[in-house]
Amino acid sequence: MPLRDLAATFDPPCESMTIPHEEIRRRRTFAIISHPDAGKTTLTEKLLLYGGALQLAGSVNERKNQRAATSDWMEIERKRGISISSTVLQFDYDGYRINLLDTPGHKDFSEDTYRVLTAVDAVVMVIDAAKGIETQTRKLFEICRRRGVPIFTFMNKLDRPGREPMELLDDLESVLGIGACAMNWPLGMGVDFKGVYDRMKKEVHFFERTPGGAYRAPVSIVDLHDESVKKRLGTATTEQVMGELEMLEGAGHAYDAEAVLAGKLTPVFFGSASNNFGVQMLLDAFVKHSTQPRPRITPGGQIVKPDDPFFSGFVFKIQANMDPNHRDRIAFIRICSGRFERDMVVTNARDGHKLRLSSSHKLFGQKRETVDEGFAGDVIGIVGHADVRIGDTLTEDPSIQFAEIPRFTPECFAFLHGKSTAHFKRFREGLEQLLQEGVVQGLYIRKAVQRVALLAAVGPLQFEVVQYRLQGEYGAETRLDPAGFQVMRWVSPAVTEDELDEATLPSGGAFAVDTEGHTVVLFPGPWAEPYFTERNPKILLSALPFDTNPSSDDSTEETA
Ligand code: G4P
Repeated sequence: MPLRDLAATFDPPCESMTIPHEEIRRRRTFAIISHPDAGKTTLTEKLLLYGGALQLAGSVNERKNQRAATSDWMEIERKRGISISSTVLQFDYDGYRINLLDTPGHKDFSEDTYRVLTAVDAVVMVIDAAKGIETQTRKLFEICRRRGVPIFTFMNKLDRPGREPMELLDDLESVLGIGACAMNWPLGMGVDFKGVYDRMKKEVHFFERTPGGAYRAPVSIVDLHDESVKKRLGTATTEQVMGELEMLEGAGHAYDAEAVLAGKLTPVFFGSASNNFGVQMLLDAFVKHSTQPRPRITPGGQIVKPDDPFFSGFVFKIQANMDPNHRDRIAFIRICSGRFERDMVVTNARDGHKLRLSSSHKLFGQKRETVDEGFAGDVIGIVGHADVRIGDTLTEDPSIQFAEIPRFTPECFAFLHGKSTAHFKRFREGLEQLLQEGVVQGLYIRKAVQRVALLAAVGPLQFEVVQYRLQGEYGAETRLDPAGFQVMRWVSPAVTEDELDEATLPSGGAFAVDTEGHTVVLFPGPWAEPYFTERNPKILLSALPFDTNPSSDDSTEETA
């Protein structure tokens, strides 16, 4: 059963003996997705401000420091102003426990974003109202849609002249193919953006701007027909808003909780993150209408419910050296069922090894705190288990094994050399760690005279991160040489070594082996693949590893 259908029918049965349902009911685990620059970081900060986790946010000069203290922690991110690595922000709001998972916005880090999205129960999609739906939003949206997660939309930057709100709603339907239900409606736009009308509560919220949007925006709430509305908006805007509201009532999508939870209808909020307009409304509606942690289905068809008594979770991210003061390796685990207790012993379902989860942390940006207990929806960071990999299931019931997290097909390739032989050990250690984290994929060319690391990535910025981190964290200077490959395909495991004939490769092609020991074939261009398959009709190729992606990308829908 697809997750969305299952979730719609999920109503926790009787109170389990060991798992307090209230703990599950109050958890909200989500990520924000957007095209770079639409305002994801700003909205994250503002949610933290309204959630009481930050005292001050967003003032222009403070902004970069605030980022360092919260979601973006890597120096390279600050330097380039992009978000690369992601972390988890947990805070309590209005009785809810919120786990906000940060995702990198840049397309070169899509694979990392994808992994994070396997660990959430819902997303907030931020759209720049002047630009509408952009490429990266579309791609991330597709991933979320396939997984059937509820999507809440925040139309940002209404304080700037932008596209007509009706047009933006239409785009959601025509470009993304999702129904859109306006939860609020903007009152004016650009410099005349004064507030929003809450369609659910039938209230007008007028906001005041605060310097740099550092504090909560003072709000006054009045009835739509109150005299002050016309005074503040002017006759023309008031009439326009009234007309639009009437149109929405007549022709717009009505709110439908089931469709929202199934990912078929997105509740839309208009606002301005930098001015704090509409942020609280989004947060309040999100905690109320979004979903608690949902059951997951393993590829073996086992349904794992959040209130099942045994602990289970999966590793969706590994990161070393997050904090220069704690040079260690953290595996991030999304809890799917049961109760996490520090010091508990679990099994790694991949290899059957038992491990004690003693060094468990809650992370808030760079800050970390020991965590003793957790429930489905929570993310915990476990330190010090070198053999744990991305995608591993850690569980008290070894029969459970969640699906592996699919990899992306690399499109960029480069050879990496350690510059100094004196630092070769550091280079090897560092590279091994970064490969385990999945920062890039690593390959070795088969039958090559010299064993040089060939890096494969979705986007070239990933190489930059590798070099930067090897230098900064391991003191290993490196040189990157371009590799003349453009296409990589995995070779079916049924193919034996003897069947791989170098002579059948097109000029500039190569056989290589990935870190998992799978054989791949590299082509200098798209034209070379048909050339190869013609000469090797028995060799089955795939854009993704055979064992981790049994059917297609969609396989995660049922499991994550
Ligand atoms: P991202 O994480 O999605 O990449 O976007 P980010 O929040 O960094 O925002 C990108 C730019 O958009 C920032 O400007 C930010 O201040 C601005 N922005 C965010 N929300 C709003 C809004 O509601 N209205 C307006 N007008 N701008 C908004 P910047 O100049 O790149 O950075 P900064 O100097 O403001 O820090």
